[in-house]
Amino acid sequence: MIILGIETSCDETALCLIEFKGENIDNGEYKVLANIVNSQIDIHKEYGGVFPMLAKREHTRNLPIIYKQILTESDIDENKIDKIAVTTGPGLAPALWTGIVFAKELKEKLNIPIVPINHMEGHILSTIIPNTDKSDNFNKFNKIEFPALAVLISGGHTEIVLIKNIGEYQILGHTVDDAVGEAFDKVARMLNLPYPGGPQISKYAEMARLENFQSEFELPRPMIHSKDFNFSFSGLKTSVLYKLKEYTDKGIEINDRIIKNISLEFENSVTEVLIKKTNRAIDQNEIKSIIVGGGVIANKYIRNEFIKLSNSKNIRLHLPEKDITGDNALMIAISAFLNTKIPSNEDIIALGNLSLS
Ligand code: KG4
Ligand code: ZN
Repeated sequence: MIILGIETSCDETALCLIEFKGENIDNGEYKVLANIVNSQIDIHKEYGGVFPMLAKREHTRNLPIIYKQILTESDIDENKIDKIAVTTGPGLAPALWTGIVFAKELKEKLNIPIVPINHMEGHILSTIIPNTDKSDNFNKFNKIEFPALAVLISGGHTEIVLIKNIGEYQILGHTVDDAVGEAFDKVARMLNLPYPGGPQISKYAEMARLENFQSEFELPRPMIHSKDFNFSFSGLKTSVLYKLKEYTDKGIEINDRIIKNISLEFENSVTEVLIKKTNRAIDQNEIKSIIVGGGVIANKYIRNEFIKLSNSKNIRLHLPEKDITGDNALMIAISAFLNTKIPSNEDIIALGNLSLS
């Protein structure tokens, strides 16, 4: 079976073609035929974040171009495609609609079903493939033992999800304000670092660690002791703002040393809260495997701390390959294959706030 994956929920226009064999995670196999991600970061950079109507314009322009490219790259006749998997939410509604409209046009043309995919399920299942390369051979999926716990950390979401099986999700906790990636981006903006801020902050924090930097201050660990699995990162961002104000009030220029200090302390705080809550969720739910997905897991330090946690708990950890931590279409096509509970229906609409449970 060949599935076309389409992802346009934010600022990446992504399409892929994957061929699948078998029926499920145990006996299924996949082969990547083509995979393209077109990032709009350079266009949104000057606005300091994603500008929805600009994202819509770019997706609309790029979708037919990338579609032709994946057909050429895979050398597949479009009539061989069996299904279309498209992200229907959560995300920016104008951006989501572009993918949906494109999918519907193809559905009419090729007379094949559309499967609506939740972007966050995509991030969960992005961890299930051991490699993303185009190849002539089929690959098996990684084995995930259930119940699994997914920690989803992206620009729009921060969630801890209990997974009883593929398609059976229960959100145990989520951020009550900013998402982790959003907080990284906002702190970076305060420091006059370019969008997206996550990689910038992590670069400065890494430099600080390598230098064995001695911090002048610590930042708070919001909600670290709360009994629930919720998060709050907006106060942490405000603490950074006050710290910067303290310096500027004293006439001190925000130099590299201060940027390193803030980046290091911010990354430490976020990581400690994420690890602590994950640790507790593992204990309370007899978890057998951990999944961490979403753009923020590109962060080396956070990745390493999750590896340490899984080692200390003796639980297998599933992380996405480095090239699919961010938004991509592979995870969307894979979700359509593995989650057989999703009905393919006629009435597919964009759901900006779509939830996993
Ligand atoms: O999953 P994603 O690509 O898009 C959404 O679905 O939101 O996540 C994007 C987020 C951005 O906020 C970006 O700053 C963050 O992931 N990010 C990072 C790193 N790389 C990307 N955050 C921290 N450290 C990184 N190395
Ligand atoms: Zn995402």
